Formats: sequence, structure tokens, C-alpha cells
Amino acid sequence: MRAPASVAALVSLASLLGGAAQAADTASIVASQCIACHGEGGNSVVPMFPRLAGQHAEYLDKQLKDFLAGKRKNDVMAPALAQIKEGDVAGLAAYYAAQKPTPIKPDNDKLLAAGKAMYDDGNTQSGVPACVGCHQAEGAGNERYPRLAAQFPSYAAAQIKAFKSGARNNDRAKVMRAVAERMTDDEIAAVSEYLASLP
Ligand code: HEC
Ligand code: HEC
Repeated sequence: MRAPASVAALVSLASLLGGAAQAADTASIVASQCIACHGEGGNSVVPMFPRLAGQHAEYLDKQLKDFLAGKRKNDVMAPALAQIKEGDVAGLAAYYAAQKPTPIKPDNDKLLAAGKAMYDDGNTQSGVPACVGCHQAEGAGNERYPRLAAQFPSYAAAQIKAFKSGARNNDRAKVMRAVAERMTDDEIAAVSEYLASLP
């Protein structure tokens, strides 16, 4: 009777240790592989590197898996991706989702009103749907649609243009490409400034 009990004890000890090892690994991967670009707690201070703090875990998980599978490509991220495995992704996604995003300032306040109009109403003439319909009030997002609040305007604009050209094509059912392909450069610039102004 003692053998099964000690096996059970060993199993639960192993799973406890496994959990701790996972957490330690996440912290050490973040510190050694991610922080240099994405900043302390994912609050990048360099516009080229997207802010990850407070982004939804499911979205982060999908992006990292898409990068690892080559469905989303970026030469700058590639060396860091070579250092992680699929098994690390859930821990990294949970880590960044739990960080508190700090606010940033838009680059051009003059575009905010036009950007807000695009975000809330879209463009009925050209058929751009309102961003708020998917990305939620104040760019908060949800597990399906990424958080956009407090993102760098240059990063957001670059991603919308990448969806528009098809260079980024990892959105399921072309959902974001169908939006981006109807947008003008001026609309992309304005809405990206507005996103940076959101808390
Ligand atoms: C050398 C700089 C660099 C390092 C190191 C780096 N990244 Fe990135 N990361 C980038 C760039 C640049 C992008 C934007 C890619 C693009 O334009 O598609 C990015 C994009 C991302 C995205 C997608 C964000 C979004 O909003 O869609 C995630 C998630 C991410 N990185 C996580 C990580 C993690 C986790 C690590 C550490 C394992 C890491 N990155 C290391 C530069 C870096
Ligand atoms: C029908 C739903 C839908 C609508 C409407 C929509 N989006 Fe998106 N958007 C998505 C999805 C889904 C993704 C993530 C795709 C993926 O899995 O990579 C996305 C991704 C993005 C990203 C990239 C985020 C990042 O961190 O890399 C930006 C920027 C963006 N959307 C801006 C907008 C703007 C601006 C509008 C309004 C003009 C808009 N979206 C309207 C569904 C939508």
C-alpha cells in the first residue's frame, strides 16, 4: 500500500517542481532574450519594438507560435526566436499579459480627432469597418482581438501597412487584411496616433 502513495507523492512533487521550473525559465528567457528590445515588463521605449505589456495572453501565444512556425516573419526577432521552444510560449504569453502597461504620448496631436473618428466609426464610404467593433472600447482588445492602446504609432502603422500589402498574412480568415486594404495612408497615420493616446 505504501508504493502507490509514494508514487502519488512523487508525481505531485514532480508537477510542483515542474511549475516552478517553468516560472524560473520564463523569467530567465525574458531577461536574457526579450528585455533588450521589448523593455522592462514589456513596456518598450523604442518605437521599433512593440509594447507587449498588458497584451492578451491568447493573442501573444498565437503570435509567438506563428513566428515559430514561420507564418509571421521578422528578421529582427529571428535570433531571439531561435532561443525559444514552443513549450516556452505559454509562460512568455502569460508573463507579458500580466504586466502593467505604462502610457505613452502620440507623436502628432493634430491627428487625434481624425484618428478617433476612424476608430469609432470607420469610413462608410470606402467600407472600412469601425475598429472598435473588434478591438473594443479604448483599444482594450480581448483574447481574440489584440489590445492596441498605448502602442507606438510607427509600429501600429507599419503593421496595418503590412496587412494591407499582405506582407503580414497571419490573420485568420483575412479579417485584418480586409480592413487594412481599404485604408489610405492618411487614415492609417491618424488612427495609429489615436491608439498611442489611449491609456
Ligand atoms: C532584437 C530585438 C528583439 C528581441 C530580442 C525580441 N523581439 Fe519580439 N519583436 C521585435 C520586433 C522588431 C517585432 C515586430 C515584428 C514585426 O514587425 O512583425 C517583435 C514582435 C514581437 C511580438 C508580436 C507583438 C504584437 O503586438 O503582435 C511578440 C509577441 C514578441 N515580439 C515577443 C518577444 C519575446 C517573447 C521575445 C524573447 C523571447 C522577443 N520578442 C525578443 C524585436 C525583438
Ligand atoms: C473584424 C475584426 C477587426 C476589425 C474591424 C479591425 N481589426 Fe485590427 N486586427 C484584427 C485581428 C483578428 C488582428 C490580429 C491578427 C493576427 O492574428 O495576427 C488584428 C490586428 C491589428 C493590428 C496589429 C496589432 C499588433 O500588435 O501587431 C493593428 C495595428 C490593428 N489590428 C489595427 C486595426 C485598426 C486601426 C482597425 C480599424 C480601422 C482595425 N484593426 C479593425 C481584427 C480586426
